[in-house]
Amino acid sequence: MSIITYKNLKNILFKLQPESAHNLASIGLRSIKHCQPALRYLKDRYFYTHPMLEQTIFDRKFLNPVGLAAGFDKNGQYILSTPALGFGFTEIGTVTPLPQDGNPKPRLFRLKSEESLQNAMGFNNLGADYMLEQLKKLYFFDYPIGINIGKNKITPENIALRDYKQLFEIFSDQGDYIVINISSPNTPGLRDLQNEQFIKDIFAIAKEQTDKPVLLKIAPDMSVENALNLCRSAVDAGAAGIIATNTTIDYTLSSDPDKQSFGGISGKILQEKSYTLFKAIAKELYGKTLLISVGGIDSAQEAYRRIKAGATLVQLYSSFIYHGPNLLKEINEGLVELLKADGYTHISEAIGADFGVKSE
Ligand SMILES: Cc1cc2nc3c(=O)[nH]c(=O)nc-3n(C[C@H](O)[C@H](O)[C@H](O)COP(=O)(O)O)c2cc1C
Repeated sequence: MSIITYKNLKNILFKLQPESAHNLASIGLRSIKHCQPALRYLKDRYFYTHPMLEQTIFDRKFLNPVGLAAGFDKNGQYILSTPALGFGFTEIGTVTPLPQDGNPKPRLFRLKSEESLQNAMGFNNLGADYMLEQLKKLYFFDYPIGINIGKNKITPENIALRDYKQLFEIFSDQGDYIVINISSPNTPGLRDLQNEQFIKDIFAIAKEQTDKPVLLKIAPDMSVENALNLCRSAVDAGAAGIIATNTTIDYTLSSDPDKQSFGGISGKILQEKSYTLFKAIAKELYGKTLLISVGGIDSAQEAYRRIKAGATLVQLYSSFIYHGPNLLKEINEGLVELLKADGYTHISEAIGADFGVKSE
C-alpha cells in the first residue's frame, strides 16, 4: 500500500502557485525517468491496456487511446515517464526554432470552482535543438510521440513559414507525427495564420521536408463554417489529421473568481464548446482523415462520447492536473466497459458510430 496518493500530492501542489507546482512535478518526472523500479511501480498502478483498445496508427502501436495533450512536456524532457502515468501517447511541445522565455509571469491560473485552467504561457521552451537532443536519446523507446511545432514570437507572421520549414526539417525523421500549431492564443497574431492560403502553403512545405504524418491543431473560437473550410483545406493539402481543440478565449464561459481577461481557458468549461466543434468537423471529415479530440475530457463517458463522434484518439491536460494518473486508468478501464456494454469487440467499431459508419 502506498502513502503517496495523488490526493496527498495535490494537497501540496495546489498550495503552490500553479507554475511552481508544474515545475516541481517536472523535476519529479525528470528524475524518475531513468529509475526503472519507480517507473514499473507507477506503470503497474496507472497504465491500462486491453486488446479492445489497441490500435495501429501511423505504423505505430497505441496501447490505449488517451494521450497527454501538448503543453505539459514542452521540451520532451519526460517522455520516458509519461506512459507510467497511464498515457497511451504523448504530444510534446509546442517547440519553436529558437528557445524563448514565453510571456511574463504569472501566466498560469487555476479556475478551481470549474475544474479548469487559464494559461498565457506563450510557448516557453528550450528550442528545437534541445528537443532534438532529447528525442535522439529515446532511440528504440517503443511509445507513440507527437511533436507539436510553432513559430517564435519574434518571427513576424509574414515570414512564419520560415520557422515551420525549419522545424519540419529538424524533426523530419523524429516522433510518429508532427502537429502544426497555429491555434494557441498566447502568441500575438498566431491565430491569424488559421487561413486557407497559409494552410495550403504550410502543408506544401511540410510535404517537401518530411514523410511523417502532419496534423493541424485548431482553435475552438471560430464558426463551424470557418473551421470546416480550414480543415477541408488542410486535408486537401495533405494533412494526415485534425486535432480539435486548443484552449478558448471565450472568457464569458467562466465565472470563477480567479478568471483573467487574457490567455486561453482549458478544462471542464471548455468541454461542450470543444465537443460541439469537434462533432461538426467530424460530421464531414470522419473517414477522410484521422481525428483527435481534446478539450475538457475528464471521464470515460466523455472520452467515449468523442470516440463515437469520430475521434480515433483523445487527449487531455487539465483534468490530469485535477485528478492525477488515477484518471487515466479509470478512463481506459471505463472505455472497455462502455464498449462491451454497447456490444463492440474493438474500439474501431465505435469510432464514428454516431454517423452510422464503421471505421476501417
Ligand atoms: C498550461 C497549458 C499549456 C499549454 N500549452 C500548449 C502548447 O504549447 N501547445 C498546444 O498546442 N497546446 C497547448 N495547450 C492546450 C492543450 O494541449 C489542450 O489543447 C487544451 O488544454 C484543452 O485540453 P484540456 O481541456 O484537456 O486541458 C496548453 C494547455 C495548458 C493548460
